[in-house]
Amino acid sequence: MKHLYIAGNWKMHKTIEEAVSFAKILRERLSATSHTLMVAPPFTALASVAQVLKGSNIRLGAQNMGQEESGAHTGEISPLMLKEIGVSTVILGHSERRHTYLESNELINKKVLLALKHNFEVILCIGETLAERESGKLEQVIHEQLEKGLAGVSKEAMRSIVIAYEPVWAIGTGKNATPDDAEAVHVFIRNVLAKMYSDEVAKNTIIQYGGSVKPENIQALMSMPNINGALVGGASLKEDQFVPIATVVV
Ligand code: PGA
Repeated sequence: MKHLYIAGNWKMHKTIEEAVSFAKILRERLSATSHTLMVAPPFTALASVAQVLKGSNIRLGAQNMGQEESGAHTGEISPLMLKEIGVSTVILGHSERRHTYLESNELINKKVLLALKHNFEVILCIGETLAERESGKLEQVIHEQLEKGLAGVSKEAMRSIVIAYEPVWAIGTGKNATPDDAEAVHVFIRNVLAKMYSDEVAKNTIIQYGGSVKPENIQALMSMPNINGALVGGASLKEDQFVPIATVVV
């Protein structure tokens, strides 16, 4: 059986009460799966969900992280604050951060380095827009996001990096990349990592696919040799969708 890393990004959904009751359900229903699992609730629910997931097989993730440890940064959350709660994983460079909140590769890189300094696992999201894909810039964009996003990250630190390939046009649209299209980009990502680091790093780095993952397409996507897991948005919010995704057997 293929080992997968399935992560749920709850985005700006669920009150504390809703998050806690959902986390209790997931803890119980996913206790027997051997996949690596993570959920990223909104910041307000992190501390409560941390209590529910303590000692379980589900990692606790944050959807973003500030660029400094402390200081005058209104509205930001420091890595130290996330550590205190028990967060182990941070999602950085999500396309909504890049496109709605205009985060640059440089800013994302600063956060990646800071997260690594504090021993977080980092899920670095990359992916092209439809316009970029249609104008033949797919490889250039992916290459740049990897090179700039991982600037200064050592070969050893790459063990704490997970890459999530999320084509922007597939996020929240119901239109997933075909397994073959996703696989082709995952192969390209491994080639870039091989050039930046080594064949070993390229082979060992977990690369998730994200963008309209659902129970109906999880099997086909996860069967592709270079896809090691999924970063799930909409379908991570409901028990009847996330449980089959997180327990998929390929
Ligand atoms: P989606 O979102 O599954 O709702 O398309 C994926 C993501 O944004 O990580």
